[in-house]
Amino acid sequence: MTDAPLPELMPDASVADPYGTLDPATLRHPDSLKWTMYPEGVIPLWVADMDYPVAPPIVAALRERLTRGLGYHQLLGDPTLGTALREHLATQGLTDLPEDGLTFLPGVVPGLYAAVNGLTQPGEPVLTMTPIYHPFHLAITEQGRRVAAAPLREGQTEGGQTRWEIGWEALEAAAQGARLLMLCHPHNPTGRVWDAAELARLRDFVLEHDLYVVSDELHADLRYTDAPFEAFAADPRVRDRTITLTGPAKAYNTAGLGIGAMVGHDPALVKRVKTAAGGLMGHPSALSVTAWQAALRGGGPWLADTVKYLRGNRDVMAAFLQTQLPWVRFSPPEATYLAWLDLRAHPRAGDIQKFLLEEARIAVHDGPIFAPEDLKPRYQGFIRLNFATSRALLVEALERMARALGAEVPVQR
Ligand SMILES: Cc1ncc(COP(=O)(O)O)c(C=O)c1O
Repeated sequence: MTDAPLPELMPDASVADPYGTLDPATLRHPDSLKWTMYPEGVIPLWVADMDYPVAPPIVAALRERLTRGLGYHQLLGDPTLGTALREHLATQGLTDLPEDGLTFLPGVVPGLYAAVNGLTQPGEPVLTMTPIYHPFHLAITEQGRRVAAAPLREGQTEGGQTRWEIGWEALEAAAQGARLLMLCHPHNPTGRVWDAAELARLRDFVLEHDLYVVSDELHADLRYTDAPFEAFAADPRVRDRTITLTGPAKAYNTAGLGIGAMVGHDPALVKRVKTAAGGLMGHPSALSVTAWQAALRGGGPWLADTVKYLRGNRDVMAAFLQTQLPWVRFSPPEATYLAWLDLRAHPRAGDIQKFLLEEARIAVHDGPIFAPEDLKPRYQGFIRLNFATSRALLVEALERMARALGAEVPVQR
């Protein structure tokens, strides 16, 4: 650690910290994957769950739902969830969805697999951009297709910070022979929200190469940008070739309930993708339907407060890194609570995840996970850090990290 003065890391004590009382002993309950994967004492900053309790309107709706039995939920005949979701998606540019343009899924990942299965043939290349949330390339390779990866390129903001951008040349080269582009918007793990210019160019690209698109927009409601979210398929030019995937799991922290939706403006395309999964897809659980309905109906204020808190965490982390670990390259995410950190300058970059686990007692995701086999070395030395915890735990994790990394002398790159 340097001797530079610490920025104001903790919130003003006179302002209530809604998540200030989070206690590792309580979070570490046996049902929690995030908190029990690593030994006691390790701060888990890996899998994309938030440490925050579920929004009160969702908890109330779930309690009430449990008083009414748990038979098959009336999802087909009751339009409540579908109507609320359509209204929500319309604010993101997905207007005029046809009657058969929406179908529910037991999660978003099954939609990724179904899109690959339904829109490509075995042996074909499927286009995606790395680093990427790993089920993207698993959906490709586990179904006998090939990953055609276009690495994002590391650009710079005017302030000299890293900014992950679409690697247009790499995308052009990788597109040969591909029929499907798998897009992550906002992007996990870099936290980019593709802007209007990038989306416009990407749409031109997709039309030029006659590609289908599956756009995973699961993190769209966790944005720190002020502009309204623009779905990839907001532009009518690409609507008929795009399947958009969404769900409540990230914004409302309900991943354990399992539900998602696949929407598209061409009902035949939606049907083709759904049929590709056959009866394997299953149906969303009654409680997940109830939770999503409650989230869309009354979860807005909780979400706004939580996004504000996450933004604060992001800024605290940025200030900490700038002063205490200035050699770590980082671009503050525009969405999501995941930070993509470049620690390649460190002598232990070759086993950085293990080093941080053993020496700092923090658990993060290792960079190579976010790439297919041949590109894994490119992301060695990067980590993905989940900052959706209390500010106190985040600061403790960052301090541990700085102490452990500071013991080594970083090599200047
Ligand atoms: C981009 C993205 N898509 C999908 C998922 C998982 O979605 P589900 O749990 O609904 O399958 C995640 C989880 O972190 C994610 O980040």
